[in-house]
This record gives sequence, structure tokens and C-alpha cells, in this order.
Amino acid sequence: MSTVNLAVVYYSATGTVDAMARYAAEAAEKAGAEVRLRQVARQVTGGERATSEAQAAHAENALDTPAATADDVVWADAVLFGSPTRYGNIAGQLKTFLDSLGPQWGQGLLADKVYAGFTASQTAHGGQETTLLALYNTIHHFGGIIVAPGYTDPLKFVDGNPYGVSHVTGANNDIPLGDADIDALRHLASRVVTVAEKLKN
Ligand SMILES: Cc1cc2nc3c(=O)[nH]c(=O)nc-3n(C[C@H](O)[C@H](O)[C@H](O)COP(=O)(O)O)c2cc1C
Repeated sequence: MSTVNLAVVYYSATGTVDAMARYAAEAAEKAGAEVRLRQVARQVTGGERATSEAQAAHAENALDTPAATADDVVWADAVLFGSPTRYGNIAGQLKTFLDSLGPQWGQGLLADKVYAGFTASQTAHGGQETTLLALYNTIHHFGGIIVAPGYTDPLKFVDGNPYGVSHVTGANNDIPLGDADIDALRHLASRVVTVAEKLKN
């Protein structure tokens, strides 16, 4: 059975999505995948700042993460995309990266892969689901296979997002990931690897 190549491609301004990406990457590796952890243009916008030590540390870590390239997506059998919620949508930085994949899309190189997403927002009803669905608009154009977590494990009734994984950072943008988030990220990553494995083999 050949190994699944999985790319975790994310944007994070204040470290939350960065932390989520690292948990997902670790879980995918544990599930047997070869993993590339990649970030798209890191840029702290005026409206954001790291408001906790943990976020600041993750933001620092992110400086070591290689920049995502088109090859990372072409190489992958499965891609997990992560983005902060921006006005109920994915961040422009991730969208710009997705838009840069036109040539690969044109050659059909983005189709038939497994995709899923994760996000963070300040508020519980601030657009996490719409962000994930907005991400998945692009995946439909890729001809990708969206592997939503649904409620395929009892833990999904705890984190409560069948579209992907999402975390609420709170009014001060400083609530760290909890067990429910981490469990959900691990579940998503291993589910994506399992489905990609079945497709590949
Ligand atoms: C321009 C902008 C738009 C945002 N839009 C939303 C939003 O629609 N809903 C929400 O709850 N939070 C919103 N936020 C807060 C971010 O989603 C939150 O800070 C983010 O999840 C932190 O992720 P990060 O630490 O990985 O950057 C917004 C922040 C900025 C700067």
C-alpha cells in the first residue's frame, strides 16, 4: 500500500490557525501519511495582534514554516486548508494562493484529491461554517473530493462542526485550543488520510 501524501496549507495572522495546522499535521503523520506543513504569505494585518503568550509563540513558530507552493498541492493526495474567518469568508491571503493555482487547475492537476478545511473566528456565530463552505466552493472547481467530518465520531457532537473543524478565539482573540478542538483536528486528519488511502490504493 503506498503512503498518502498530505499537505496542510494554511494562513494564520495571530497563531491560532497555525496551532490548529500543527495538530492536524501531527495527526496525519501518526495516521501514516507523509506530511508537508506549509503556510501562505504570513502577514499581520492592522486589525489583529497576538493577545496571549501561546499565540505569540505559535506566531513565532510560523516563521519557520516553509511557504506553500503549487507543487505542494500537486504532490498531495490530500490537502487540509486552514484559514482564519474573515468577514465570514477565508482570508484573502489563502484566496490569493488558491487563485495562483489556475495553471494547475487548467491541467487537471488539482482534481480527484481529498480536501477538507479548518478555521478559527472570534465569535461562535461569526461565520465559521460559511468560511468552510466558501473554501469548498473552490474545491468544487478543482474537482476535488471534500471529506467532511460530519458526525462520524461521537467527538463531533462535542466540537459540533460537521463541515470541518473550527475554534472560537473569543472577544480578546486569546482563547487557546481545547481538548474538543484538538480531538476534532485529529479526527479530521486521520479520516482524510483513511479516505485518501482508499482512493490511492
Ligand atoms: C479583517 C478581519 C475580519 C474578521 N472577520 C471575522 C468574522 O467574520 N467573524 C469572526 O468571528 N471573527 C472575525 N475576525 C477575527 C479572526 O477570525 C480571528 O482573529 C482569527 O480566528 C484568529 O486566527 P489566527 O490567530 O490564526 O490569525 C476577523 C479578523 C479580521 C482582522
